[in-house]
Amino acid sequence: LKKIGVMTSGGDSPGMNTAIRAVARACAYYQIKCVGIKMGYEGLIHNQMSELGARSVKHIINRGGTFLQTARSEEFRTKEGRAKAFENLKKNELDALIIIGGDGSFTGGNVFFKEFGIPFIGVPGTIDNDIFGTDFTIGYDTALNTVIEAIDRIRDSATSHNRVFFVEVMGRDAGFIALNSGIASGAQDILIPEKKDSLDDLFGSLQHSQQSNKNSSIIVVAEGEELGNVYDLAKATEMRFPDYDVRVTVLGHIQRGGNPSCMDRVLASRLGVAAVEGLLDGKSDVMAGIRSNKIVFTPIAEAIKKHNEIDKELIKVAKILAI
Ligand code: F6P
Repeated sequence: LKKIGVMTSGGDSPGMNTAIRAVARACAYYQIKCVGIKMGYEGLIHNQMSELGARSVKHIINRGGTFLQTARSEEFRTKEGRAKAFENLKKNELDALIIIGGDGSFTGGNVFFKEFGIPFIGVPGTIDNDIFGTDFTIGYDTALNTVIEAIDRIRDSATSHNRVFFVEVMGRDAGFIALNSGIASGAQDILIPEKKDSLDDLFGSLQHSQQSNKNSSIIVVAEGEELGNVYDLAKATEMRFPDYDVRVTVLGHIQRGGNPSCMDRVLASRLGVAAVEGLLDGKSDVMAGIRSNKIVFTPIAEAIKKHNEIDKELIKVAKILAI
């Protein structure tokens, strides 16, 4: 193994820069060349890449986003696109790839590996924490901290006005961000796609809040919630309780930005080093993850197919503490 390409792909997440830095530095340490590929698979298709030495990645450990930039490449989904990517890979003498991203990016790597036999290791980078084979994905902890800071602020306003706030958080079709940020910000109710929520339960919870003299209620809603979107839920609540003062906040992309937390920086550093060492050990078509604080490698096919379960204990804790 002489030369490794690294890219970020899919949605950005805080800590991706830290992971790129870790890959570049680990390559320098083990005396192999590292090449940074711009814009995910797009950069491979359009031959946009340049060498990354240990010093090329200085002062990015703490920066949000990804300096290599990222994309969700449509062209890479086509056979022709992947053939172009393979040509450029050969032209640049890349022996292997490290792909930092989510399951869509890993699916691309898996197909590419099957077609052309290019060794690759995936590193889970997404705020959603929805990837099987790791307890935490890079960016998740930072996003949680951003969300609870925002909800704390909303709470100040909510209590001052005796209001009910519906706060929508990201997570695609998973409720990890909602459940954990909801517990951490003292939400009255948390609506996530993994549990079967009903309007009756929600209204019961809001009524309880009112009767027990709480002077604000925060309802955290995962964007993938199946009961309805945050505006529909707020509307239904206003219809049911005409005297409630209801507001909606959609946190949106502020959840994806910002300096990575210490947790994310350490995680990204460990996974970046593990990915390089994994390739040097001859591993391929696997994802480097962390479980019970130990590095583990999971076959990509499994990481893509399986889903992390929501912890029922957390659902119980949220319910008990909303008393
Ligand atoms: O996967 C990360 C994520 O932020 C999801 O939580 C969200 O559903 C999606 O990406 C938003 O994608 P985009 O940035 O393309 O709007």
